Amino acid sequence: MCGIVGYIGTENAVDIIISSLKKLEYRGYDSAGVTIFNGNLETYKTVGKISELEKIIPAGFTGHIGIGHTRWATHGKPETRNAHPHLSSNIAVVHNGIIENYMHLKEKLMQQGYEFSSDTDTEVIAHLLHKTMKNEKTYSLLDAVRHIMTEIEGSYAIAVLCTDEPDHIVLARKDSPLVIGLGNNGYFAASDVTAFLRYTKNAVYVNDKELVLISPTGVEFYNNDGQRIEKKVDIIEWNEEAAEKAGYEHFMLKEIHEQPISIQDTYAGKISELEGRVILEELKMDEDQLRNLQRVTIIACGTSWNAGCVGKYLFENLAGIHTDVETASEFRYGDPILCGQVLTLAITQSGETADTLAAIRSSRSYGCKAVAITNVVGSTITRETDSVLFTHAGPEIGVAATKTFTAQLIMLYLMAIHIGTVRGRLTPETSRDILVGIKQLPGQVQKILNNKDAIKKCAEHYAKVQDYFFIGRHLNYPVSLEGALKLKEISYIHAEGYAAGELKHGPLALISSATPVVAIATKGHTYDKVLSNIKEVKARSAEVIAVANQSDTEITKYVDMVLRIPDCHELLSPVLSSVVLQLLAYYTALARDCSIDKPRNLAKSVTVE
Ligand code: F6R
Repeated sequence: MCGIVGYIGTENAVDIIISSLKKLEYRGYDSAGVTIFNGNLETYKTVGKISELEKIIPAGFTGHIGIGHTRWATHGKPETRNAHPHLSSNIAVVHNGIIENYMHLKEKLMQQGYEFSSDTDTEVIAHLLHKTMKNEKTYSLLDAVRHIMTEIEGSYAIAVLCTDEPDHIVLARKDSPLVIGLGNNGYFAASDVTAFLRYTKNAVYVNDKELVLISPTGVEFYNNDGQRIEKKVDIIEWNEEAAEKAGYEHFMLKEIHEQPISIQDTYAGKISELEGRVILEELKMDEDQLRNLQRVTIIACGTSWNAGCVGKYLFENLAGIHTDVETASEFRYGDPILCGQVLTLAITQSGETADTLAAIRSSRSYGCKAVAITNVVGSTITRETDSVLFTHAGPEIGVAATKTFTAQLIMLYLMAIHIGTVRGRLTPETSRDILVGIKQLPGQVQKILNNKDAIKKCAEHYAKVQDYFFIGRHLNYPVSLEGALKLKEISYIHAEGYAAGELKHGPLALISSATPVVAIATKGHTYDKVLSNIKEVKARSAEVIAVANQSDTEITKYVDMVLRIPDCHELLSPVLSSVVLQLLAYYTALARDCSIDKPRNLAKSVTVE
């Protein structure tokens, strides 16, 4: 996830900005840059580590005002020209977030003669500011930033320098974090407090649609109407390590909590609720190609494979297209029957999984069109496929995939609705229903997070068991697989995910009072069938934990504990149930004192076969 920093003060801004950027490294980045004002705007940027950036800044170079950035590519590859700051004449901008309407703004700016030197969404901010300052001669930089906030849509925390106001940094935020540090030797701005904790513990958190004007003599805060506002100063008690995790004990817990934002960032700019359709230009397939598809073959490993299994139900239900899900390590040595009318879809958060890469290469040798869903811009899969759909979950540091999984699900919904609409399977009314539901997911995930204590209690109650079963039907079958995978990888408890109807074909022999069963029993057309399966395991003395909808009062009659998700569209419940199961796994591992962020024997990116 990108990080922004800024500094004005009596110290050398170059040193402070570099040291602050280093503190943001944990967020993940592929390039970095700084702009320092020392008479002119001097900008240095490069792909790679901050140590590379240090190498290109001339020795002895100083200044007292500057901004800096670590970039995690979202629009445009990790290349120096895409690194921030972005400039428009006498203006320099760093940005964290996603400008959803940047294509539209870019086209307009290009018609007005602006030339773009990057593929980023951020560059439109620099040019828009330049245009505003040029047209509205009475505007201050602060006025100009406030003005363009009415034009840009999406999420942003921005810091801006302009040579017309050489002793100011102007900042603004909407849906991306921004915090100001008040030090003895200057003022700081950053995406999180870690960046400046070594200089000051006095921080002011900026709220959505607020603006900040920093000068050598002080910091002023403004609301969206341009009125000055007073803000509370917080004294940060965390040390730097705790601050990297935003106070959470583990990256995994932090990433679970980031899901309201990662879900939103993944669908941002892709939903036209009014028209009941999805905008998915990145798929690069025209309507005829989509209509002529015979089949979709999803290729993935681990958690991404579980997402693919949810995808199968979505593609078949919403798009009416036959879908297979293949384990990449098996597919690559199999004898697949493929042709040009088959779409192969690789799902891989890292974009580097060796088996997935090999399998997708093999599929292309049959003439299939290959599409990737990945979280990492510039990863190998993006060069091995015809088109790429990026989940915008931000970097995931915990080895166990959490926010990237739910982001993959969101992308699969969007893809299925898009293909279903083109193929005439979905009416705008039906898709609108689901799209409205998707937009409610961030708030609903937040509700689950707010009530996580019940999940923690349940996890602690069963933390000492040796075996767990997870059961579900239809879409909830892959949810049960993912619940079991999450639990086994971080808590080291043996766990099995099963299609609930399969129990009686073997695993029922293992069910006893020592094997708790998690039943994903959300409302839908298989609900009653799952209730029967619950009775089956209860009859064998198993204790049952149900994941059920908020309004379901009936379920309490049949089970020992209920973990709730908000009521939602039947097809969308996997996103919400998965968050519950992530928390169940997390708190179980915590109670067992396991190494949560780095489980034994596992790696974040599996680049070997
Ligand atoms: C489990 C997990 C793994 C990955 C798998 C594929 O939490 O993270 O099962 O899902 O190694 O990785 P990607 O998605 O990077 O291809």
